[in-house]
Amino acid sequence: MQESYEAILIEQIKVEEIPQVMEINRICLPENYSYYYFHHLIVNWPRVCLSAKINGKIVGYILCRIEKGFSFFGLLKWVKKGHIVSIAVLPQFRNHGIGTALMKRAINEMIHYYKVNEIFLEVRVSNPAQRLYEKLNFKKLKVLKGYYSDGEDAYLMVLQPSEFKI
Ligand code: COA
Repeated sequence: MQESYEAILIEQIKVEEIPQVMEINRICLPENYSYYYFHHLIVNWPRVCLSAKINGKIVGYILCRIEKGFSFFGLLKWVKKGHIVSIAVLPQFRNHGIGTALMKRAINEMIHYYKVNEIFLEVRVSNPAQRLYEKLNFKKLKVLKGYYSDGEDAYLMVLQPSEFKI
């Protein structure tokens, strides 16, 4: 990649950009979603549905949602959770910090704007992206047996806002 880090723009995904984001999702991940699900996320939680652009072209995205549920830590404690639903960067733009930048911006928004108590994601046990999450201080909480449609297990990884490394 020729472009410098400064040339990367992270901003909220616009409704008219959904097809481009869906295309990156199809290229990068076997977990694909309907147009309506992308629309639902972008309209309801715009500050944590973000694109990364280089020279006006979307090269990566992160999609998150805000949920309520029992805490992963406290017994029967009802909390607000940030759920990282999907993240991807086009193969030719990887390993330049774009994924990390998307994660950091979304996590900051979840903590400071949506005021979540916990942040979580699921990741295939075989996916090296775990390393990215561990660098941000996500911890593996448990294995979700057969979580994916092909039968692969997932790690449930959780971040507590107080442990977020900027
Ligand atoms: N292989 C090895 N290490 C990886 C990795 C991979 N595929 N993806 C991320 N990492 C680790 C590296 O340790 C890297 O740190 P380093 O640069 O200090 O070595 C760190 O994560 C951050 O990488 P970064 O450049 O910020 O991320 P990226 O722009 O390459 O994007 C993904 C990371 C995961 C979004 C990208 O690899 C991708 O789109 N993968 C396919 C889709 C996917 O698996 N999404 C996650 C589903 S849970």
